[in-house]
Amino acid sequence: MKKKAIITGITGQDGSYLAELLLKKNYQVHGLLRRTSFLNLDRIQHIINKYESGGQLTLHYIDMIDTSSISSLVKKIKPNEFYNLAAMSHVGISFYTGEATLNINAVATYRILDAITKNYNKCKFYQASSSEMFGITPPPQNENSLFNPQSPYGISKVAAFYTTRYFRQAHKMFAANGILFNHESPRRGINFVTRKITYTVARILIGKEKKLVLGNVNIKRDWGHAEDYVLAIWKILQQKNPDDFVIATEMNHTIWEFVQEVFKIVGLNVKKYVETNNPKFLRPAEVPSLKGDSSKAKKILKWKPRYTFKDIARIMLESDLKSHGLNIKEARLIAKKIN
Ligand code: NAP
Ligand code: GDD
Repeated sequence: MKKKAIITGITGQDGSYLAELLLKKNYQVHGLLRRTSFLNLDRIQHIINKYESGGQLTLHYIDMIDTSSISSLVKKIKPNEFYNLAAMSHVGISFYTGEATLNINAVATYRILDAITKNYNKCKFYQASSSEMFGITPPPQNENSLFNPQSPYGISKVAAFYTTRYFRQAHKMFAANGILFNHESPRRGINFVTRKITYTVARILIGKEKKLVLGNVNIKRDWGHAEDYVLAIWKILQQKNPDDFVIATEMNHTIWEFVQEVFKIVGLNVKKYVETNNPKFLRPAEVPSLKGDSSKAKKILKWKPRYTFKDIARIMLESDLKSHGLNIKEARLIAKKIN
């Protein structure tokens, strides 16, 4: 019998990679998506083409602000695994959309767990928790570090984290948290800082953008690759017992170091093309430094990241250059001319 999984947030960066992984492992995948005014299937169109007509992939419209139909879906499908990845995932924007962020990220998590426990409590549940929950707690952060969130997003994720633990402890569910540090890829949304950098560099080179305008570039992040991280997500649900795991590379870099790395690859002049500390991109409160200690995941999940900081910068840049009709050699020639 094929294993069955439900994924919320299948149209997102992680949802798309996780769906790919599960489909390759011969799971039957049910992806939940919301209605948007502009159909947003870019990250999953390739798997829709390959798996939907044969019935291995099914999409269902469910918005996280109205999870009432999740009960009947769980009852009908009886999934082995439920991956809750949907979220208002932009920390900066959460300062302006706090209430919606709490509804989508925290209240919906409670409702989903309640639906699972009442309708099919054998289902294993994964919650997409975040290093943002540590906030201003100094690095290295691990499973025992203090949560000290600095944003509505961080608060919503702490609430969902403890909700998940509560269903594990009080309702004896297999409910686990992955506390994932930042992870990136060519599928990252263009308003997250790494992708904004690689995307804007490509656009500067083709003359569509004049400058890369950023906020605070002294902040440090522990950046991994989303492909590595969805493997860890899957492994968390394959354990005998539910538990919480920090997933990180254990290295961190400033935003400025990422800028320098990307600009160096194509030889573009940083001084000429980058503006920093623009008020539009400064946040009311910041998380200054994240660096995970993922020794527990290494030991128990036998997981470790394959991609390095430099790999990620190069892969993301190459992908953005390609989608703008350039390769690195051509990009270098243009950079020489416009520097
Ligand atoms: P993402 O690319 O922003 O994807 C978020 C997904 O949630 C999208 O599919 C989005 O749908 C969906 N969504 C948002 N609001 C929704 C709503 N009201 N109803 C239904 N679906 C909704 O985020 P990601 O990077 O893949 O992250 C996946 C999860 O991991 C999130 O919970 C995030 O908070 C968490 N996380 C991410 C990181 C990271 O560095 N990437 C680290 C730690 C934790 P649309 O496509 O329609 O917008
Ligand atoms: N987005 C953005 N845009 N961030 C900027 C900019 C800019 O122009 N300039 C500086 N930054 C700084 C932000 O202030 C933040 O400190 C850092 O770059 C990283 O920002 P993001 O890439 O937006 O990611 P994040 O760390 O806030 O949140 C991501 O990682 C979390 C895990 O720690 C998201 O993926 C969250 O969903 C995730 O939980």
